[in-house]
Amino acid sequence: MSMREKVELLQQKRAESDLGGGAERIAAQHEKGKMTARERLDVLLDPGTFVELDRFVTHRSTDFGLADQKYLGDGVVTGYGRIEGRLVYVFAQDFTVFGGSLSEAHAEKICKVMDLALKTGAPIIGLNDSGGARIQEGVVSLGGYADIFLRNTLASGVVPQISAVLGPCAGGAVYSPAITDFVFMVRGISYMFVTGPSVVKTVTHEEVDFEALGGADVHGATSGVAHFVHDSELESIAGIRALLAFIPSNNLDDPPLRPTNDPSDRRDEELLDVVPDSPTKPYDMHDVIRRVVDDGVFLEIHRDFAGNLLVGFARLAGRPVGVIANQPAVLAGVLDINASLKGARFIRFCDAFNIPLVTFEDVPGFLPGVAQEHGGIIKHGAKLLFAYCEATVPKLTVIVRKAYGGAYDVMNSKHVRGDYNVAWPTAEIAVMGPKGAVEILYKDEATEAREIEYREKFAHPYLAAARGYVDDIIDPRDTRPRLIDALGTLATKRDRNPSKKHGNIPL
Ligand code: HXC
Repeated sequence: MSMREKVELLQQKRAESDLGGGAERIAAQHEKGKMTARERLDVLLDPGTFVELDRFVTHRSTDFGLADQKYLGDGVVTGYGRIEGRLVYVFAQDFTVFGGSLSEAHAEKICKVMDLALKTGAPIIGLNDSGGARIQEGVVSLGGYADIFLRNTLASGVVPQISAVLGPCAGGAVYSPAITDFVFMVRGISYMFVTGPSVVKTVTHEEVDFEALGGADVHGATSGVAHFVHDSELESIAGIRALLAFIPSNNLDDPPLRPTNDPSDRRDEELLDVVPDSPTKPYDMHDVIRRVVDDGVFLEIHRDFAGNLLVGFARLAGRPVGVIANQPAVLAGVLDINASLKGARFIRFCDAFNIPLVTFEDVPGFLPGVAQEHGGIIKHGAKLLFAYCEATVPKLTVIVRKAYGGAYDVMNSKHVRGDYNVAWPTAEIAVMGPKGAVEILYKDEATEAREIEYREKFAHPYLAAARGYVDDIIDPRDTRPRLIDALGTLATKRDRNPSKKHGNIPL
């Protein structure tokens, strides 16, 4: 064979691998309203930057007729490319080959890009679309999953790991995405469950379909497994690109700066009117966040889950920050189990990846009730407390209104190493709200006059300021310039925790 003929053969084989499970199965994938693995990578990565690895890998199985069924690539497309010019490693499962199921060889390909991501300090992005373990392979497929789980765990806190679930994701296959930092799902095509509807019916006699058991909205709003839920694959993949713009490539990097035309000294007159005069009236904390951060841009995470606490990324003078904020418009902004879990996980991500934390506080306390107590609000609330305490990134707090009880301590108080804590004049910092306080103190003799007396004595920020528990009481209009200035001074902050193998966060 001449060189030209050999190159011709190579091109044929490359074209064959591009087709995955073949034209028919690609058409079936499209009919389901789903893109193929390669189409997804085309949209995810900067044009022309994808470099594929292992396109000629095939499985080595012979049982159940597999010897005659080999597809180049074996059901997963792997390699590296760029997002806004930055290196990322990727894998995209190809549902057209054995339903994207995970074989030994398929797992080895994923592990290879994970190892490269860890060595080079680049994020790893997995696009999952798979029927789970390759049933014909048995234990070697299970072993392949465990090899991935181990790498997910070792990479946690070293490089960002992002999972999109763009198809079924069943059995142990859900646990790799679950260990990663962010999970994206798409309505109508994404499903995640440990056991599917038929097993559920056998075991618990519950009748439930795919959507109600583990669809995107269930995981976005009820379980909290999904951080982002979109209506289409294109929006979901665009969401991954948008998220990466806020986070560094690894734990030794700083998050990427993005210059802005939004002036650092911008005061905002409207901030005078966001908080209602009545302390019991709700308002939307989004209004505060958007008026303070660069260009009003707030990339909210877990938008439909535990709405009483808001978390997400924004920028201040071009620097990415992680925002955590009580939301008085939902359950009066109380901390409950789900809010604690949501906040703690976000804080730990930011701390691992050098992203400063900015807390906007208006919290009446932890949610009382039997369901919360029996559900373990003590240990779950403790997670939020633990996460704030151990975080060593710059930590800023603005007490907008209520800072009551244990929640005052938890929400990045000075005592848990807040670096710059300020209060608006509307702040109320006390052990509890005036009504609850006089009811306990005076029982049947609780009167409105006593409530007013208590409010005048405690429901303001000056006692906290007198002790240095807040660094200053500021004009709300100055919030942006004050935070930007503080963030600048804290850019060189160094703090450390005692040397240890690892802490024991109350799981
Ligand atoms: C091998 C598989 C497969 C699998 C699907 N296929 N799942 N091949 N191993 N796990 C193949 C099908 O045979 C079919 O091949 C093609 O993929 C498409 O599958 P369909 O069933 O036609 O597609 P669809 O109707 O869309 O249904 C998708 C599905 C279903 C819901 C994922 O295929 C399914 O339920 N698969 C099994 C899921 C499962 O129980 N997996 C094991 C979970 S346990 P052809 O040739 O017709 O195109 C597990 C353990 C991991 O994963 C533990 C780690 C700790």
